[in-house]
Amino acid sequence: MQKPSASLSILSGRRVLLGVCGGIAAYKSADLVRRLRESGCEVQVVMTAEAQRFVGAQTFQAVSGRPVRDSLWDEAAEAAMGHIELARWPDLILIAPATANTIARLAHGHADDLLSTLCLASDRPIALAPAMNRLMWAHPATQANVATLIARGAQLLGPGSGEQACGETGAGRMWEPLQIRDAVAALFGDGPLNGVRVAITAGPTREPIDPVRFITNRSSGKMGYALAQALHQLGAEVTLISGPTALAVPAGVRRVDVETAEQMLDATLHSAGHSQIVIGTAAVADYRVAAPAEHKIKKKSDGLDLTLVKNPDILSEVRKAFPDAFVVGFAAETEKLAEHALEKLTRKRLDMIAANWVGDGRAFDQDHNALHVFWNGGERELPSASKTELGRQLADLIAQRYTRRADA
Ligand code: C5P
Repeated sequence: MQKPSASLSILSGRRVLLGVCGGIAAYKSADLVRRLRESGCEVQVVMTAEAQRFVGAQTFQAVSGRPVRDSLWDEAAEAAMGHIELARWPDLILIAPATANTIARLAHGHADDLLSTLCLASDRPIALAPAMNRLMWAHPATQANVATLIARGAQLLGPGSGEQACGETGAGRMWEPLQIRDAVAALFGDGPLNGVRVAITAGPTREPIDPVRFITNRSSGKMGYALAQALHQLGAEVTLISGPTALAVPAGVRRVDVETAEQMLDATLHSAGHSQIVIGTAAVADYRVAAPAEHKIKKKSDGLDLTLVKNPDILSEVRKAFPDAFVVGFAAETEKLAEHALEKLTRKRLDMIAANWVGDGRAFDQDHNALHVFWNGGERELPSASKTELGRQLADLIAQRYTRRADA
């Protein structure tokens, strides 16, 4: 077996209980076991009954070097290590592939087989690498179950997008074994952004007109939340300064809720004071109502004039206050994408800017996006992908550029 690289040494001696469920991606999990063991992990495989329709237990026994556990009722296995003892054994419970069915059963606290019982009987962190057909993944039932598990602290590793075993294309593919192994290392506190603090703004702002009305925009916050999660998976300590969104806070990320641009500015400056990287994905309202009415405005006249005043530019203020921070901005444009993005990169004195097209139903409130990223002396196109996937690619790029600058 290969020796672990220095950056993966954090995995050495870690105990991973790998739950394998019944999906075609189960064949990749045998490779995942090998990758984890190469990095020094001890791996105990627990298979569901359905998983064994795809891959035999012998395969996992051979690659893990341990007998596979698959039943609550195996007397010999229980005598050697009872299931409660087994639930206490790992440093991490990793379920890969995590099927829609297992995700649903875990969300509802079932304990009708060994794997679900272990999850219920364990206080160890749980990471899920989902794998399923794209419609099953997108189904509100699955999304609600995933949100429940995330809210309880489960880590979500994937899924990725692409061609699926069923011949369809979309989100639902299990991450590749190496990607899962690296994310597991990051969960244990290793990754290129280990020890780096990141402040990231996301979502829209709301600028009050009166106590019941406000001006806002179409931002859903999805890109910012996906990026926050991906940065955390690279080891960063992430504070997400979020305008109002319907999204669940990504596991391991600290969220600070704000409404107006001015509140977002205060929270961001506060957080930037102890961060090395500051990222603005928020769609901050450029203007606010100069004097919001104290009481609900009555529809007395035929017209209504509102006087708007300009909001502070959060990233420019961050740059002024913290000249050494690594500052990343976004540019949402309906025309001249590169030209406008480069102008903002210079004017706001950013280290990097991620530009995307908006309008005509593009980007805002969509699950997919494409980005063109610019920095002084370089650029990279990130083609259309799910925002989760794009968040991961952009986080990698930010980590590369930040590390390069920090090393210079
Ligand atoms: O100037 P524009 O609004 O297009 O710039 C977009 C970038 O600047 C985004 O990163 C956004 O989060 C940030 N921004 C800001 N404060 C504002 C307006 C935009 O930080 N008031």
